[in-house]
Amino acid sequence: MSDFTSSFWSLFIMAGTVGGILFVLILLRSNMMANVDAKQGKEIKATGHVWDEDLEELNSPLPSWWLYMFYFTIIFAIGYLILYPGLGAFKGVLGWTSHGQYEQEMQQAAAKYDPLYKKYAQQDLITLAGNKEAMKTGQRLFQTYCTVCHGSDARGQQGFPNLTDNDWLWGGDPAQIKQTIANGRKGTMPSWKAMLKGPDLDNVVEYVRQLSGHQADPEKAAAGEAKFKTICAACHGADGKGNVAMGAPNLTDGTWLYGGSRHTLKKTIADGRNGVMPAHKDFLGEDKVHLLAAYIYSLSHPQQ
Ligand code: HEC
Ligand code: HEC
Repeated sequence: MSDFTSSFWSLFIMAGTVGGILFVLILLRSNMMANVDAKQGKEIKATGHVWDEDLEELNSPLPSWWLYMFYFTIIFAIGYLILYPGLGAFKGVLGWTSHGQYEQEMQQAAAKYDPLYKKYAQQDLITLAGNKEAMKTGQRLFQTYCTVCHGSDARGQQGFPNLTDNDWLWGGDPAQIKQTIANGRKGTMPSWKAMLKGPDLDNVVEYVRQLSGHQADPEKAAAGEAKFKTICAACHGADGKGNVAMGAPNLTDGTWLYGGSRHTLKKTIADGRNGVMPAHKDFLGEDKVHLLAAYIYSLSHPQQ
């Protein structure tokens, strides 16, 4: 924004704010005069509005306690606008900013917790997963950074994996979990619309349902098996048990990322899926990622 327009809008806002306060002051002042008139026993003037021929509206003064409260809010507003930002581009004499306050709070939190994260970062993940105090802190981190996608109970939702069931897309070893959180993961299930047309698609759907133990049409499933072995086995394995190197899910365990109904399977296979777990290393730092990895490990490996 150019200097001119920014100073114009700043002045515009200042004029509006100061004008508003002045207007209220004048209004209060005229009412105060009515109050003085009333105290001196003068007749209270009518506004001139008349209804039903003889019902007059009087200009009665406001109660003084109410008036003084109003004056107080005006004095407060003036004081506030001098001390804090609020009047156009004027920054206030205290130099307070919400950003500055945030920075300060973050620094205080870092000074308090960083040594703790450092200490935890020196323990191996399995030992750390057994440390109750550390896991409480890990849970707080999880609540802050992960629940939007994985849910507050870490059980996930459609498209976002359950982290408590010890069933892994990308592997459940402590090191694999840490790798997932630090660098993120991209699951790429291609779209097969072009290759599986008409009955071919339905047959593969039936075969996947059979693999996972759902009710399926045996004839169609048998026809789908050949297609599965040629197209799908490359990633999901000849036995359909998946491959953690590619994040290809196990299709035999009845645990679904997207769902096992015919309708959902058809959509998954025809259109493909692209689940993305964002990388957290740069954003959270190595030490917090370490603690989170131990926390995630602990969810599916409860300690006695
Ligand atoms: C290039 C590797 C690759 C091939 C080939 C492939 N898939 Fe996938 N598939 C994946 C990946 C990776 C995912 C997980 C997608 C995600 O995380 O969003 C997936 C997900 C799925 C799912 C969802 C499972 C769930 O839990 O909801 C189904 C069903 C599926 N694939 C079936 C098939 C079928 C049937 C074929 C063959 C027609 C096939 N896939 C071919 C990689 C592949
Ligand atoms: C923006 C949404 C989002 C956020 C935020 C998010 N995740 Fe994920 N996460 C996903 C998705 C989607 C997947 C599945 C990726 C795929 O389809 O392959 C995933 C996968 C994972 C996996 C792998 C699960 C498996 O079965 O292998 C772990 C572990 C994980 N997330 C932990 C975390 C942790 C810890 C946090 C917080 C620091 C977090 N996630 C934050 C979306 C998210």
